[in-house]
Amino acid sequence: MYVLGIETSCDETAVAVYHADKGLIAHTLHSQIQTHNEYGGVVPELASRDHVRKLIPLIRQVLRDSRLKPSDIGGIAYTAGPGLMGALLVGAATARSLAWAWQVPAIAVHHMEGHLLAPMLEERPPDFPFVALLISGGHTLLITVEGIGRYRLLGESLDDAAGEAFDKTAKLLGLDYPGGPALATLAAQGKPRFKFPRPMTDRPGLDFSFSGLKTFTLNTYQNSERSGRDKADIAFAFQQAMAETLAIKCRRALQQTGLNRLLVAGGVSANLEIRRQLEQMCKQTRADLFFPRPQFCTDNGAMIAYAGCQRLLAQQSQDLNIFARPRWPM
Ligand code: KG4
Ligand code: ZN
Repeated sequence: MYVLGIETSCDETAVAVYHADKGLIAHTLHSQIQTHNEYGGVVPELASRDHVRKLIPLIRQVLRDSRLKPSDIGGIAYTAGPGLMGALLVGAATARSLAWAWQVPAIAVHHMEGHLLAPMLEERPPDFPFVALLISGGHTLLITVEGIGRYRLLGESLDDAAGEAFDKTAKLLGLDYPGGPALATLAAQGKPRFKFPRPMTDRPGLDFSFSGLKTFTLNTYQNSERSGRDKADIAFAFQQAMAETLAIKCRRALQQTGLNRLLVAGGVSANLEIRRQLEQMCKQTRADLFFPRPQFCTDNGAMIAYAGCQRLLAQQSQDLNIFARPRWPM
């Protein structure tokens, strides 16, 4: 069974085809970075309009690349939320219309479940159960995963998400959108000079708080000479604090659950220093660590096609309603 996956929740239009036995067949993506760059962040209306322009051509391209006809497709999965309402509706309306025309089921996928399952597309996917750390622009979640759809929340961010903290910190250092990768690039030139706090690590619990880290960065920046050197050292200190805080909480989650498998996914999991510190922690605790390949850390259609395929195999698809939810707890 071939499943078409459509992702339009934010600033990437992405489409993929996944086959239940053969795996990932084709995937393609159009990034809107150029569109939003001059505004310093995502402009929702521009995002929706660009999805409208790009989605159908990308669907045609993926079908061509995978040498499939519409009649080969057994289901259409789309990101139904969380995300920008207008952007979600483009994917939802297109997916539902095609599903109706092609007489196949449409499957509304939770964007964070897509991220969570992205490492399943790799050669060596984890067995259940495992602990998962999901770090994206809108979410920071620690959960236990016992199987597809069997998730238990262990902890989450009480304020900014990890990616949001990266983006806001990058902005106050004068870096371009998207801030996370720009800050990581700058941090690579930095040296250990400033000591930043590791928020909420000195008390028990698995929740996170990153807004204080952002304020700490701002104060340090304002009290510095604001030279290129200072900026790089501040970016370095911020990234170290982020990576170490995440590693401390993951270590705690593994200890508390007694599990020895950790999966990390979402846009921020592309960060090399975060990967390095988590690898080090897992080595020390003898846990196995699983990541998506870098291009599937950030938003993509492959994870939505995969998640949709699993839902379809479990016989979970929806009626004819167009389903899109800007806020949707997992
Ligand atoms: O998962 P994602 O593509 O979209 C959401 O679901 O939010 O994550 C995007 C987030 C952004 O905040 C972006 O700055 C961050 O992931 N990000 C990074 C890196 N690459 C993407 N943050 C730090 N280091 C990176 N290399
Ligand atoms: Zn995402």
